[in-house]
Amino acid sequence: MYTSRISGLGSYVPENVVTNDDLAKLMDTNDEWIQERTGIKERRHIKKGDGNTTSTMGVKAATIAIERAGLQTSDIEMIIFATLSPDMYFPGGGVQIQDLMGMDTVPALDVRNQCSGFVYALSVADQFVRTGMYKHVLVIGSENHSGGLDFTTRGRNVSVIFGDGAGAAVVSRNETGKGGILSTHLHSEGKHKDELALQGPSTGYWVPEILEKNPQEDIPYYPYMNGQFVFKHAVVRFAEVIMEGLNANGLSPSDIGMLIPHQANLRISQFIQKKLRLSDDQVYNNIQRYGNTTAASIPIALTEAWEKGKIKEGDLVVLAAFGSGFTWGSAMIRW
Ligand code: UT7
Repeated sequence: MYTSRISGLGSYVPENVVTNDDLAKLMDTNDEWIQERTGIKERRHIKKGDGNTTSTMGVKAATIAIERAGLQTSDIEMIIFATLSPDMYFPGGGVQIQDLMGMDTVPALDVRNQCSGFVYALSVADQFVRTGMYKHVLVIGSENHSGGLDFTTRGRNVSVIFGDGAGAAVVSRNETGKGGILSTHLHSEGKHKDELALQGPSTGYWVPEILEKNPQEDIPYYPYMNGQFVFKHAVVRFAEVIMEGLNANGLSPSDIGMLIPHQANLRISQFIQKKLRLSDDQVYNNIQRYGNTTAASIPIALTEAWEKGKIKEGDLVVLAAFGSGFTWGSAMIRW
């Protein structure tokens, strides 16, 4: 049995910055409400004509990660791609990335676990490397939210939160003899599937059915979120799954070098920080600048923390996510 490690990280966000004041021109909201409730000051949105799509942003992040791993694209043996906003309904975004990167016939697997997508994808990559089947697996999270949000007052509780971007990691066989991915811990609770969901177009809501709907009715082709319900579950599950990972490795919160929580809401991160008694230096947040980028939020934050020198060799890095499904998970990594 082998172990795996993250050998390279990369991220990409569109250049177009959208401030809270910009959103206030489109809907009844304001900078004070958004900052107070979420911590978000601005986010990035793809701009028509800038060439960005979910898969092209994924490619940009992946290219950086592969280069930093000291590898060539041809060294990658599998792609695992997490997104809730693929360029097409089918096929999944993984094959589009494979095509754009000219990756011959390597397998491409799509992960549909929303905000937990990156942690789930990382866990799958870890299993493939542990068994010895592959030496280098590319894991990507990328989202184009801005194309599918309701930017009228009706959608304000969702549309002010989400942003676009991509992050990637190369998961490689750990040949350093030290550290690496110690363990991953995954959960789901489908009974809450309707609390944060986009229902159509799907086989539940085919396009003709949606077209027949009166625009004044609840429209199932914009995301719905029961914010307070999601919030209450998030704070419990985040803490639980972090403790599960620490306990599995005989560790405690004081051992954490850097916690990278999925960037759902700054208040959620602060709540977990307080609950686990972590210092400001032990938690990395960047939701203020990017909003919630779902499957991309952890790899973007992890890449940034690493680029800023906040993660050092030997540090215990903890990733934790919670979101639609509900799904949640954590990863314990000795850097
Ligand atoms: O990443 C996946 C997981 N997602 C999460 O973890 C998100 C969890 N939930 C949240 O982050 C928060 O629940 C939100 C940020 C979505 C909402 O914050 P909240 O403090 O729970 O507010 P609320 O939904 O209870 O709404 C409070 C008020 C309402 O008005 P009334 O009924 O009190 O008059 C809303 O209509 O704020 C209103 N409101 C807004 N006002 C200005 C909702 N959205 C906005 C807005 N601007 N954008």
